Amino acid sequence: MNGDIACIGAGYIGGPTMAVIAKMNPGRRVLVVDINAERIAAWNSDNLPVYEPGLDEVVKACRGKNLFFSTDIAGAIKACDMIFVGVNTPTKTFGEGAGYASDLQYWEASARTIAQEANGDKIVVEKSTLPVRTADAMAEVLHTHPEHTFTVLSNPEFLAEGSAITDLLNPDRVLIGGPQTARGRAAVRALVEVYAAWVPRRRIVTTNVWSSELSKLAANAMLAQRISSVNALSALCEATGADIAEVARVMGMDRRIGDKFLRAGPGFGGSCFKKDVLNLVYLCRSYGLEAEADYWEGVIRMNEEQQRRIVARTVKALFNTLANKRIALFGFAFKANTGDTRETPALAVANLLDAERAQLVVTDPKALGNARRDLAHLPHVALEPDPYAAAADADAILVMTEWPCYRELDWGRVYASMRKPALIFDTRNLLDHEALRRIGFRVLAVGRP
Ligand code: UDX
Repeated sequence: MNGDIACIGAGYIGGPTMAVIAKMNPGRRVLVVDINAERIAAWNSDNLPVYEPGLDEVVKACRGKNLFFSTDIAGAIKACDMIFVGVNTPTKTFGEGAGYASDLQYWEASARTIAQEANGDKIVVEKSTLPVRTADAMAEVLHTHPEHTFTVLSNPEFLAEGSAITDLLNPDRVLIGGPQTARGRAAVRALVEVYAAWVPRRRIVTTNVWSSELSKLAANAMLAQRISSVNALSALCEATGADIAEVARVMGMDRRIGDKFLRAGPGFGGSCFKKDVLNLVYLCRSYGLEAEADYWEGVIRMNEEQQRRIVARTVKALFNTLANKRIALFGFAFKANTGDTRETPALAVANLLDAERAQLVVTDPKALGNARRDLAHLPHVALEPDPYAAAADADAILVMTEWPCYRELDWGRVYASMRKPALIFDTRNLLDHEALRRIGFRVLAVGRP
């Protein structure tokens, strides 16, 4: 064992994770490889392909010393005894399980490449989020080359976007699942060593492989379920005159519930929650657990309902017609401090508003590039970097992302430029609603009367 580490897949997970592993393990070489030459070039440039606070510093400190980015996948497999696989596993769009199951083609291709290029025994670490029992399939593919021994571990990543580096440096837990054999235990110990360079041992949890694979899906499903639950309550608050902020505060003071992840809003987005819940639904169904599948599917339905309800309330507030009304979406990213728009609730809202024939204009400080691609099917939607210009002549503004900069806007100036009566729908409860009402706005909010 030389202790060096390879990672196949230089994306949102592989890049930041390997950078932190390299920084905290200066004695190991870490080789990050990807088939995408453009992405590798970006990792080797001053303009990294992933924006995360603190990432630039970590990469700059290690790149060229013990952290290397290249397209030489075969070379990395040969050079290292431990190989992480962090390729993407999006929801399948075709064939059996379409819309639910994970598309494992990149995953399987990586396993085949490892089997083919290996020059000795290897520890293979699943970093991508995968359906339970994927390690079995991986082991089978790897054993097509029986001259070497491959031990497959599961090591799911729990980092959230926008806080990747602090999450990696100070994780709630590191999870490592391994086979319950002598070889499996030795492999787990080798991986524990990598993390123990900076993570206290008591936060490194070891389990069997299937628990580890399922725990990642389970944790994300529980978080998504919390958001759908609080959003379901927000609808009842609007109907009854209760205030979701007050209700959430009271619930959160119960230590068994906890105060995190109780913000009502336009619904969850991002690359993980929907994909992982759908995956769980698919798994339940494939084991004949219909009631359980329906339960988790309800989390997704509730999320979609929140977006439908936001648009229905907008229509009602604008006198039951949006035809040719100018509506500005403030924010398109799925949450603040990222340009990522994957599964963003703003896209669902844009589609529904477009179906009402509204004239849409979208503004966002970081996500307009992705918005252009996501909205390509709606060519008449305008994209406008300046929020003041986006608001001019608009009938309504829908605040879709909780960008702090929107709090600092001169809302008097915004109001003056809009058509009257001017509506703000603050789907994130970001702004000072009383102050807006004093200016003259009509204000709608999620979960507030
Ligand atoms: C999530 C998990 O947090 C992380 O552990 C996992 O590895 C990947 O998925 P991420 O998608 O980056 O991370 O974002 P997160 O900050 O968890 O937010 C997810 C979505 O939930 C966002 O759209 C956010 O706006 C929404 N959200 C979050 C709410 O609507 N209310 C809340 O109280 C919290």
